Order: sequence, then C-alpha cells, then structure tokens
Amino acid sequence: MNTLQRIGVVGCGLMGAGIAEVCARAGSDVVVVESSQERADAGRGRLEKSLRRAQERGRLESADAVLERIRVVTELTELADRDMVVEAIVEDEGAKVDLFKQLDEIVESPDAILASNTSSIPIMKLATVTRRPANVLGVHFFNPVPVLKLVELVPSLMTADETVERARSYVDGELGKHAITCQDRAGFVVNSLLIPFILSAIRMYESGFATAEDIDQGFVLGAAHPQGPLALADLIGLDTTMAVAQSLYEEFKEPLYAPPPLLARMVDANLLGRKAGRGFYTYDG
Ligand code: NAI
Repeated sequence: MNTLQRIGVVGCGLMGAGIAEVCARAGSDVVVVESSQERADAGRGRLEKSLRRAQERGRLESADAVLERIRVVTELTELADRDMVVEAIVEDEGAKVDLFKQLDEIVESPDAILASNTSSIPIMKLATVTRRPANVLGVHFFNPVPVLKLVELVPSLMTADETVERARSYVDGELGKHAITCQDRAGFVVNSLLIPFILSAIRMYESGFATAEDIDQGFVLGAAHPQGPLALADLIGLDTTMAVAQSLYEEFKEPLYAPPPLLARMVDANLLGRKAGRGFYTYDG
C-alpha cells in the first residue's frame, strides 16, 4: 500500500515545478513552498504552462484537474501534514542544511520522509541536522522531470531500508518512473559516468585531435547516442557541467574528474552553451 499521499516540494524552479507536476499528475495532493510571492507566482506560471502544453499535445486530459491538486505557497509551516517533502532549492549546502533543520521542526508525522533532489551535496550532511536521519534520503530526478523516467534513490549510511522501499514504491508505482539506488557519493550513478565522458570529449577537442562536429558525429553514428558529448554539454550548460565536475573532483581527487582548462575558460567567457547562445556550437535566438 502506498503510504505517501500528501507531498510537499520546496522550491518551484526548474526541478521543483517538474517534481510538483509529476506528483500531482499521479494523483497526489501537492503543496509547493517558494521563498517569496513573486517566485511563487513565477513557479505557478511555470507549472500551468507545462500542464497546458501537455493537454494540448493530448498527453493529459485536464490541466485544470491537476492544478487543483497543487497549492504554491510561501510559508514552510504549510508542510506540517505532509507524508514526504522533496527539497529542490538552490544547490547551496548552507541553505539546504538550514532548510532541513526547519523541516524537521515543522513536518509533524514521525514517519514522514524528508528527501533532497541535490545533485552533489552529501545526503549525510542533511540527515545529521535532523532528529530523524533514518527518514532522510536523496531522491534525484532528471531534467525535464515530466519526460525523463529515471530517479536515483540515495540512502545515507543512516537511512532505514524501509524509507528507501517507501520512496521506491512511490516513484515506481505512483509516478510510473524507474528508481535505481546508489550510495551517498558525489555524482551518484549517472553523473559519475557521464561527466568524465564529457570531459574526455572536451580534452579531445581542446588538443585539436578532432573537430567538435566529428567527435559528436562519432558518437551519434558509431554508438547510437541521440547526441554527441559536446552537444550534450551545451544542453546541460557548461557552468553546470563544470560545477558537477568540481564536486566529483573534490570528492575523489581523480584526474578523470578534473575540469579541463578550456571548459574553465569557456565558463569565464560566459560561453555556457545553449542558454547563452554559444558554447561548443552557436545557437540562434
Ligand atoms: P532553480 O534555480 O531553477 O530553482 C530553485 C528554486 O528554489 C528557485 O525558484 C528559488 O526561488 C527557490 N528557493 C531557493 N531557496 C529557497 C528556500 N529557502 N525556500 C523556498 N524556495 C527556495 O534550480 P533547479 O535547477 O531547479 O535546481 C534545484 C535543485 O535540483 C538543486 O539542488 C540542483 O542541484 C538539483 N538538480 C538540478 C537539475 C538540473 O538539471 N537543473 C537536475 C537534477 C537535480
């Protein structure tokens, strides 16, 4: 039986809005908390746009019915009755630690799960500031959340097996996604493999070994990847790629995770990929 029905989300940016959307589409009652009314309005707008688009494309019967299950508010105390809260605020350890202390005070049920969507902050750092470390874990969604099926579940050394199983049952059963589990180490499964691959492609390009187009075509046509590693870095954003590489390097001190100089220079120059109009490729608009 699913024990998670009332879901809370903190942060209604790119990821938080996506997480709120998939939970509400699955029938859960969702309360999302933002830091100001302006941000809450922007987050609500983001949710509405995504749901209306899904309806127009025939993927959703009624955007309004889903929106009725979501409240976007500005007070954390509105999360008191939640069965699970997923934190999706800025990737800043101090801010997340502070939030977990507050959530621990506010969320009433001793069985409630406190989850983080962090990409790189150790779950243990968040678990240890609460009085319920057995109920804290990482639940790492992928962008865009309504489209990508993977969710990484990340128990810390102190997370109870039952917490992992309750989260898995919700992710697989209610959300219709696919959960995989890994230990509380920087990068989890996907970024630990993807980032060194992208960094190797950047080093190859940096050394003049091959052009960006040829490196990418090699992977599209020779390994059936939907896009090559440099185009993918442009899509992720070179600043994000750099930040994840730095956290992996800091954790493991392995050269394969060290950001190549070209990546650092491109970030300095604000050549961040698609969102900046230029990265390894140039984009219109
Ligand atoms: P974002 O910047 O789009 O959204 C963060 C939101 O949190 C903002 O709307 C901000 O106003 C709000 N916020 C900040 N502090 C708050 C507080 N104390 N209380 C309530 N709201 C607060 O960031 P994004 O990309 O959605 O990332 C969120 C988290 O998800 C980060 O931990 C990030 O590492 C992780 N993540 C990001 C992915 C991506 O592709 N962008 C993929 C997977 C995880």
